[in-house]
Amino acid sequence: MCGIVGYVGNKKASPILINGLSKLEYRGYDSAGIATIESDGIKILKDKGRVSNLENIKEMASISGTVGIAHTRWATHGKPSKENAHPHFDNSNLFAVVHNGIIENYNELREFLINNGYKFYSQTDTEVIPNLVHFYFEQTNDVLTALKKTCNDLKGSYAIELIYKHTPNNLYVAKKDSPMVIGVSENENFVASDIPAVLNYTKKFYFLKDKEFAVLSKDEVKFYDFELNQIQKDIKEIDWDENSVTKNGYDDFMLKEIYEQPDSVRKTINSRLSDTGSYDFKDISIDKDYLTTINKIYIIACGTAMHAGLSAKSIIEKLCKISTEVDVASEFRYREPLIDNHTLCIFISQSGETADTIAALKLSKECGAKTIAITNVIGSSITREADYSILTYAGPEIAVASTKAYTAQVTILSMLAINFAEILGRCDEKVLEKVKQDVLSLPTKLENVLGTANSVKDIALKIYNEHDIFFIGRGIDHPIAMEGSLKLKEISYIHSDAYASGELKHGPIALIEDNTTVISIYTDAKLLQKSISNTQEVITRGAKSIVITNQNLDNNKFDYVIQIPEISEFLSPILAIVPLQFLAYYIAKQKNLDVDKPRNLAKSVTVE
Ligand code: F6R
Repeated sequence: MCGIVGYVGNKKASPILINGLSKLEYRGYDSAGIATIESDGIKILKDKGRVSNLENIKEMASISGTVGIAHTRWATHGKPSKENAHPHFDNSNLFAVVHNGIIENYNELREFLINNGYKFYSQTDTEVIPNLVHFYFEQTNDVLTALKKTCNDLKGSYAIELIYKHTPNNLYVAKKDSPMVIGVSENENFVASDIPAVLNYTKKFYFLKDKEFAVLSKDEVKFYDFELNQIQKDIKEIDWDENSVTKNGYDDFMLKEIYEQPDSVRKTINSRLSDTGSYDFKDISIDKDYLTTINKIYIIACGTAMHAGLSAKSIIEKLCKISTEVDVASEFRYREPLIDNHTLCIFISQSGETADTIAALKLSKECGAKTIAITNVIGSSITREADYSILTYAGPEIAVASTKAYTAQVTILSMLAINFAEILGRCDEKVLEKVKQDVLSLPTKLENVLGTANSVKDIALKIYNEHDIFFIGRGIDHPIAMEGSLKLKEISYIHSDAYASGELKHGPIALIEDNTTVISIYTDAKLLQKSISNTQEVITRGAKSIVITNQNLDNNKFDYVIQIPEISEFLSPILAIVPLQFLAYYIAKQKNLDVDKPRNLAKSVTVE
């Protein structure tokens, strides 16, 4: 998805903007551009392709402005091209704009502007914005008012940065349904669509709400509501360090993030652990009176975050005895779900900015449900929108394929389930105590499971050329299979499917032939024999079998067995996923693919 960066200060803006854009490369993009205010007006430099192409444009050396805006574009309206790349000028070259999001009524606005004498040079929806600003500026002679009137006309989502030739010390921003943060420092201020873009300049951030505006100069940031009343906002300090957005010696962010899991899970556990060992969720003021009125919990998310929800469904249902449904946000929002004030809705999102998840959250609130957000990014939209917010402490996740966010999400969901179970008193205390002990053992066991890397790599080297790989599991092992399969297809481009093992003979087994790789996951002792039988059924039909397990098996029955530490089955997704992350990683590496930026994918999916 698009990325934006902005700078106002004493320093030359272009290197800071380029550096910021390169930190946002993980979001996925196809063109890049910057605009700075120079002594003779605004200068725009842009091109199709990577940020490095932009950096190498000859004129880059000759721009020296200290106020500027920058953009990486992920094409939606109009193909990737220099003309469609941002920034865009208005017709008089007085205003330049970059924009994230989608202007749904741009055809109508374009028509209106054409009827008023404006011309268009790109196929983008964005180009209406600088021209509308110009149109309203002609009437009002005030940039902020012109921007507000423009936003009034826009339907859809936007994070807009605007500069004006004749206010060379200012940068104007507006936001609705698209992420934007404002970083503050001494004599310089920053705008970005994501914290990592400017983390090496500041750790202090303001978070803009929807329909708010800000005007930045090097010494201050002024905030306004949609009526242009000036408002105050609190600064939030981020505890991510700069190393967390570098590869730090690893070949890829994904590998680094896999190895960070013991630490990110430890931090996530500690964030909710009191000195006495009890869990501290006091900020989520959910008490017994409320919990006993709840007849359903919905967990809503997309992709890997949704798999984290599926992995936690069992611990919530078994310990709290509350029926729990997990749904993908893009379906949930359109299927008129049965929600009322007896429903608790939990939204999971690493970025906290996923458009479908935000829409589902808004819908749940409208229907009267209480909402809890689990995100990895403080101040993100989902965090602000939900009634209560719980952070995971995975640190910035840069690789497109989510790894450490998933394990942190399942960890915090499990702790929340245990906390609810303690409040409700519907579960045997000994069972609860055992799971709590197992939660504490997670970081050490994760360190241990990282030791599977070499054996998994050996397997990867044997199967990287395959066209189809199947993952199967029963009970808690089914969502693990789904997440393992998603990782594999995302970064290795191998077709892969995950099935509940018992479903195989209802159709998918027809696909098994000589040498088809089937990966089975066994982490629940109660289901072991049935799961083994399902694997035997595919072995009989010629399949090559890989097993990930924490059970004692007769290894001779299978082609490869990866042993992981024993733990309560509720928590096994957190351990069992690690070898599957390695498998996807080493297969993709063997195929010489860009594991951090797989084709067609974006890290933060801020459009529907
Ligand atoms: C997969 C992956 C995606 C995200 C999904 C939701 O590796 O990263 O499936 O999990 O796009 O993103 P968030 O968690 O930011 O809402």
